[in-house]
Amino acid sequence: MSNSNTIAGWVLAGGIAALGFSIVSGKYFHAGKHERPEVMGYVIEGVEASGGAAAGPSIEELLQTADPAAGEKIFAKCAACHTINQGGANGIGPNLWGAMGKPHGHVPGFAYSDALKSVPGNWDWTSMDAWLTSPRKYAEGTKMTFAGLGKAEDRANLMVYLNAQGSNIPLPAAPVAEEPAEEAVEADAEAEAGADAEAQEEVQADAAAAEE
Ligand code: HEC
Repeated sequence: MSNSNTIAGWVLAGGIAALGFSIVSGKYFHAGKHERPEVMGYVIEGVEASGGAAAGPSIEELLQTADPAAGEKIFAKCAACHTINQGGANGIGPNLWGAMGKPHGHVPGFAYSDALKSVPGNWDWTSMDAWLTSPRKYAEGTKMTFAGLGKAEDRANLMVYLNAQGSNIPLPAAPVAEEPAEEAVEADAEAEAGADAEAQEEVQADAAAAEE
């Protein structure tokens, strides 16, 4: 009787130990470069990297795994006003073939608003992301009466779809993990602390010698 209780006790203890280990190792793997971090880790990184924009993975991060087929479905929301085939007609909005990488208002003959024309720069990943988040904020007074896409995943998928229609500009670089740099700093600090301790020991030894 008591023997089987003991065995049950050990099995339980073993299970707890294994659970503890998996929690700890989970934390370690989390820092690994090629391991896909949990969503939480991404959230914090994204916020820091983009200087406190909406919480969640950064758009650069999302673009790495974005899905043009999903983006094509989202384009249904745009199709009321835009064509995207090569040589397609302008509608309420201009034809969008090859728009990624081009200057704002690139379609000749389309009556763009001054608001949009006066925004400097080309349609790159960052500016297109901002435009699709809120056209009104991006170019106050724009003629594009579209509220915007609140979900970053939707914008990432839509952008890779847009990009595949006559543009094919390169994806932005994936954000670099900052872990290794931090580790190096820690190692330096430890080395310094070690050196300090040694110096202190020497001082103490000197003092002891002087006392004798
Ligand atoms: C209600 C109509 C409407 C909808 C819906 C709409 N747009 Fe537009 N879009 C416009 C108009 C009008 C303009 C011109 C804006 C201006 O000149 O201020 C425009 C301009 C643009 C431009 C700038 C093109 C250039 O040549 O610089 C892009 C890119 C664009 N839209 C993408 C989209 C995408 C992607 C969607 C779907 C998420 C979308 N639009 C939904 C009407 C619309």
